[in-house]
Amino acid sequence: MEREPRQYWEGAHEKYSDAEWIHKPTMFAESVLEYFPSEGKVLDAGCGQGQDSRFFASKGYEVIGIDFASEGIARAIEKTSAELKDRVTFIQADLAESLPFPDAEFDVVHCHLAAHYFSSETTQQIMKEFARVLKRNGVLTLLLNSVHDSEYGNGERIEDDYFVVNGIKKRYFSADSLKRFTEDFETEILDESGETFKDRAVGNSNLVRFVGRKK
Ligand SMILES: C[S@@+](CC[C@H](N)C(=O)[O-])C[C@H]1O[C@@H](n2cnc3c(N)ncnc32)[C@H](O)[C@@H]1O
Repeated sequence: MEREPRQYWEGAHEKYSDAEWIHKPTMFAESVLEYFPSEGKVLDAGCGQGQDSRFFASKGYEVIGIDFASEGIARAIEKTSAELKDRVTFIQADLAESLPFPDAEFDVVHCHLAAHYFSSETTQQIMKEFARVLKRNGVLTLLLNSVHDSEYGNGERIEDDYFVVNGIKKRYFSADSLKRFTEDFETEILDESGETFKDRAVGNSNLVRFVGRKK
């Protein structure tokens, strides 16, 4: 049975608040930093408990992290040291709605494992919003579930590559299927070799990675 997504995430944030991996930047964040301009403003979209937001702030960027889960945002604020607090702000906001920012506000939009919960139509809208809030030549970085994931195809199918898995709607991408969502961007990286610490521990590296620049 499908669960209310925000409820699901409120519980998940409570559950993994003390996990070891939640306290360090993601492998993807570290790997995409070289594509960022040397300074500027970063949106961490679906920031969870803010480990990537803090990482970017520690590198001198001005960062806004957004997430719809109040538990994620509360923990993100709690985990941010006084030293970083003037460079990083966390706001509760829903990616499926218009983003609460003016056009061309950001130099970078980073979205680590948070843009794969939506219908095809909503995914298109989200990518349009990412493009809208980015400056020209601004950088978009995405890490997404892969059609090569062993759970792909489990659960009730809603659309092509979109299923209800353990009560949560999940979309799976291939490098090819992502192309139709990223037409507003010049591609710098598009492949199926992304990984997280959890993947690395079990020898998986098949997540879809995208780095592009707004046209
Ligand atoms: C797999 S977690 C990734 C969190 C964080 N980026 C990280 O890598 O630890 C997915 C995140 O997306 C958030 N999320 C899911 N749907 C969302 C929505 N509609 N709007 C905003 N955030 C959402 C969840 O609350 C959760 O924090």
